[in-house]
Amino acid sequence: MTQHQTSDITQAVLDRLAADADPRFRQIVSAVVRHVHALAREVDLKPDEWMAAIQFLTRVGKTCDDKRQEFILLSDTLGLSMLVVQLEQARRSAQALADRTASTPPTEATVQGPFYWEGAPVLPLGSDIGEGMPGEPAHYGGRITDTHGRPIAGCCVDVWSGDGEGVYDMQKGGDVGMRLRARFHTDAEGRYRFWSIKPTYYPVPDDGPVGDMLRAMGRHPNRPGHIHMMVYADGYVPLTTHLFASDSLYLDSDAVFGVRDSLIVPFERQAAGTAPDGRRLDNPFYTAQYDFTLAPSA
Ligand code: BEZ
Ligand code: FE
Repeated sequence: MTQHQTSDITQAVLDRLAADADPRFRQIVSAVVRHVHALAREVDLKPDEWMAAIQFLTRVGKTCDDKRQEFILLSDTLGLSMLVVQLEQARRSAQALADRTASTPPTEATVQGPFYWEGAPVLPLGSDIGEGMPGEPAHYGGRITDTHGRPIAGCCVDVWSGDGEGVYDMQKGGDVGMRLRARFHTDAEGRYRFWSIKPTYYPVPDDGPVGDMLRAMGRHPNRPGHIHMMVYADGYVPLTTHLFASDSLYLDSDAVFGVRDSLIVPFERQAAGTAPDGRRLDNPFYTAQYDFTLAPSA
C-alpha cells in the first residue's frame, strides 16, 4: 500500500480524478481539493476543529427546508453569492460594451435573497402596493432602456420588499398572502411607476447556525433598507437587483455585501399635498427615481 505524506496527499487526490471526467467539473473539483487542503495546512487544522466544522455544516443542512435555505444564507454572509453576481456582471458588461455603439453599461445586479415569491399580481402602472402596510408611502418611478438608450416597452418590473418595519409577508405568522409585491409593465416610453413604502433596514434570519457564526465573528446581521426588483423583457438579459435608500443605516456594512454605489438612491421627502401623479396625501411621503439599463441577450 502506498503511504501518502502530508506533502503529497493533495497530489494523490488530484491524480484520482478521471482524465475523461467533464472538464469543467475537473477544473472546479481540483480547485476545491487544492484550496481546502491549503486551508488545513495554513491553519494547521486540529481534529476537533475539523469535527466542529463538520457539525456546523450538518446544522446548516438541517436548518434548510422548503421555506429556508441556510446554505444560501451562509454563501450570502460569506460574500460568495455577491462575488458570483459580480463575476457574472463583469462578463455581461464586457459583452454589452463590446458593441462599440452601446452608450450605457447594464444596471448592476445584486443578490436575490430568500424572499422572492414567483407569481406576484400584475398591476396597472401607478398602483399602490403599500396601502395598509406599516411604513411611510413612497412613489417609485423611472425609465427602462437598452444599452443604446432605447426605451423598452412592456418590460416587466417585478418588485418586492419588507414593510416599514423590515418584515416580509413570508415572515409574518399565518397565511397573510402576498404583500408589498407586484409586477408592472412599462409603457411605450419604457416608464414604470408605482406606490409602495420607503424600505428600512432589517436583519437576515439569524436564529440558526449562520446567526451563531455571525455572532462568533462579531458581526451584526443587518441589511440596509432596500426594495428588490427583477427586471426582464424578451431579448434582454434579466436583471435581479435592489434600490438602496441613501439615508439608511448599514449601507457600509451590509450583512450580505450586496450594496453597489450605483444602486443607492435618494428618497426625497415631500410635504403632504399633491404627489407627482396627482394623488393627494395628508402626510409627508417620499419619491424615488431610478432608470434601469438592460443588456441585449446574445
Ligand atoms: C434580503 O434581501 O432580504 C436578504 C438577502 C440575502 C440574505 C437574506 C436576506
Ligand atoms: Fe431584502
